[in-house]
Amino acid sequence: MGATVAISTAAVVAAFLFFGSSVGYGGLTAITIFTLLAFVTGALESSPKAGIGGSILFVAHLSAAITTGPLGASVVALLSSLLTQVWLRRESIKVLFNVAQVTLSVVVGSSFYLFAGGQLRSSNFSNQDFLAYAALVFGYFATNSAFVSGAVAISRGERFSEIWRSQIMRAAGYDLVASGLGLLIAWMYTRFGPLSIFAVTLPILALRQAYRDNLDLKKANEELVRHHRELLDYTVKQIEARDPYTSGHSRRVAEYAQILAEEAGLTAKQVEDVATAALLHDVGKVYHEFGSVLQKEGRLSYEEKLLLQSHPVRSAELIATIGSLRGAVESAVKHHHENYDGSGYPEGLRGESIPVGSRIIMIADTLDAMTTDRPYRKALPFDRVLEEFRKYSGKQFDPRLADLAMRSYAIRRCVIASSSPTSGLTSKKPTPPRPSIRVRA
Ligand SMILES: [Fe+2]
Repeated sequence: MGATVAISTAAVVAAFLFFGSSVGYGGLTAITIFTLLAFVTGALESSPKAGIGGSILFVAHLSAAITTGPLGASVVALLSSLLTQVWLRRESIKVLFNVAQVTLSVVVGSSFYLFAGGQLRSSNFSNQDFLAYAALVFGYFATNSAFVSGAVAISRGERFSEIWRSQIMRAAGYDLVASGLGLLIAWMYTRFGPLSIFAVTLPILALRQAYRDNLDLKKANEELVRHHRELLDYTVKQIEARDPYTSGHSRRVAEYAQILAEEAGLTAKQVEDVATAALLHDVGKVYHEFGSVLQKEGRLSYEEKLLLQSHPVRSAELIATIGSLRGAVESAVKHHHENYDGSGYPEGLRGESIPVGSRIIMIADTLDAMTTDRPYRKALPFDRVLEEFRKYSGKQFDPRLADLAMRSYAIRRCVIASSSPTSGLTSKKPTPPRPSIRVRA
């Protein structure tokens, strides 16, 4: 690798001096500036974080092509690709191929530009120049993609045409938009002088880097949240595995809660939060301290009741360990045993001061408890369920939400679909829906 760096350094210096002397002082300045621009762009794209989005290294090459012409642009392409390939990416095998294909692409593109009547160093582009620039972009990408596709086709033994088509389709839109930047940079160079191009490109590169960092961070965060959610789902299954009678309880509660939240007119985000909270509402029961109380048959002592009543707070604490669930989901879980008349726990909240998600979970939770078989009783017929809701409306349940649940055809259908054939619920024919009322969030 040391020898490659030394040889390429010598080649860069020699090429710079040879071509630089032949294009004069103005050409030398342009070559230096555009090589520097391409190198800075390449350096930023070679950072370990630069894994997303396409390259914009070619923009500096396009600008060089319409400022210095084919000869100068080919020097810029040669120097910058040698510098980035060998010094930054430490690639020795592909160096020759990459340097050659980039340089040739630039020569073809800039020749197209001149052939199509484009002017060099223009600060006042005419329609002819724009057309010529389109020819340059076409020539550059056609050559570049043909070389890359050819190399891939040979190394993989696949059809060239298919790889070429997919190469072009993959980056076409992005490259076309970024190509416009090459025209702007060349115009800035001629109009305001060599250093002005950094005034426009450095902020763009910085923005691009910030965007990439942000995307990386977002991706990492989503991954973390997904892992946490999987862990919590697993925890829910663990709790339900302790007791066959509660198997699938959380999933059903989440389904009913989601329907009720939608029918109550909550926003899509609120509905999602309510469904998540409903799925995880009893997750705190996974703690060891609840094991004996949950499995105990018969009456609980006063202390045991107090302990059991701490499960909403313990669930909320566990949920709050996931950043994205803090806030709405956390408080909906914490208050899912609050009664509408203030007689619930943990804080004895009353009426609308109870989060709407908690009031919905209270109904969905009770609905599932009543419509599934328990060790001490069979599932209640739907008429009895409605009776209970009517009886405790305004006491345990938010009256408007309870009314909505009783009228909901979707909830009734969902209850019947998820109840066991022996529960007696399936024999009941659902009654046609009546107009539903809206509940304020
Ligand atoms: Fe609970």
